Amino acid sequence: MCAGAVVIWMIVMGAAVAAVMNWIPNPTSRKANTLIIGGGVAFPTVTLAALLAFGLGLLPNWSDDPARLKVHVHGEQWWWRVEYDPPDDGPNVVSANELHLPAGQEVEIILTAAEVIHSFWVPSIGGKMDMIPGRTNRLLLEPTKPGIYRGVCAEYCGTSHARMAFAAVVHEPDDFDAWLNSVAAPVPEQPVPEGATLFLANGCAACHQVRGFVERGSVGPDLSHFGDRRTVGAGIVPNTQENRVRWIANAPAMKPAAKMPAYAMIPEHEIAAIAEWLGSLTLDAP
Ligand code: CUA
Repeated sequence: MCAGAVVIWMIVMGAAVAAVMNWIPNPTSRKANTLIIGGGVAFPTVTLAALLAFGLGLLPNWSDDPARLKVHVHGEQWWWRVEYDPPDDGPNVVSANELHLPAGQEVEIILTAAEVIHSFWVPSIGGKMDMIPGRTNRLLLEPTKPGIYRGVCAEYCGTSHARMAFAAVVHEPDDFDAWLNSVAAPVPEQPVPEGATLFLANGCAACHQVRGFVERGSVGPDLSHFGDRRTVGAGIVPNTQENRVRWIANAPAMKPAAKMPAYAMIPEHEIAAIAEWLGSLTLDAP
């Protein structure tokens, strides 16, 4: 298209210069009409129709392929609800703020939003796509190289728009299957640690679930295997004990207008215990 555009641009410029310099011998209205109908109507119609036909052939194949992994990503203010819907009878897994993908496979990302428009974008893997309340958009991604890539929200969505990021973790296909199967298993909870008891006692479970332990809250991000996430607060700070404590004590200080309120009334040692327990929720946990 670029080469074609250059050629056409040069012809048009040539014609313009020829007209201005009066280089056309015996100009007649018949010649002018021929030029306009040929170059202005017939040529663009044929060229654009050919490009359209060519372009349609390049569109991704949207036939519903049952063998394709589907991942629902739902934009919230200001985090990402993620649900894996693998082909066949693979396990459906709910997670948040991190997107795991197999390399070398087409994955259908199904994009929706809660209250406002967000935009899903992992620049290293593919183009961006808006997430619009009341509408479902689809994006086909095919990451080629395992690694960790940064994803962001690319549409202004309110106060903490700039603090709405995620990691896209691309695995070798076999590793991805193993990962999905292991996160699908509930978090083992024997015996119940102090932090888990405090998590319940302070009402955290009203908004957050930890699969296998408490499966009620869905207002906030799912915290199953939270210890394996790279960041706290959807991509804003590394997932360390210190940052987990800071977040629980005062999330709005780290993410202005976040729906999670400050919990300054919880004693410091209780916050520390909850933070430690959440950090211990990993796939390697005994
Ligand atoms: Cu979500 Cu900007």
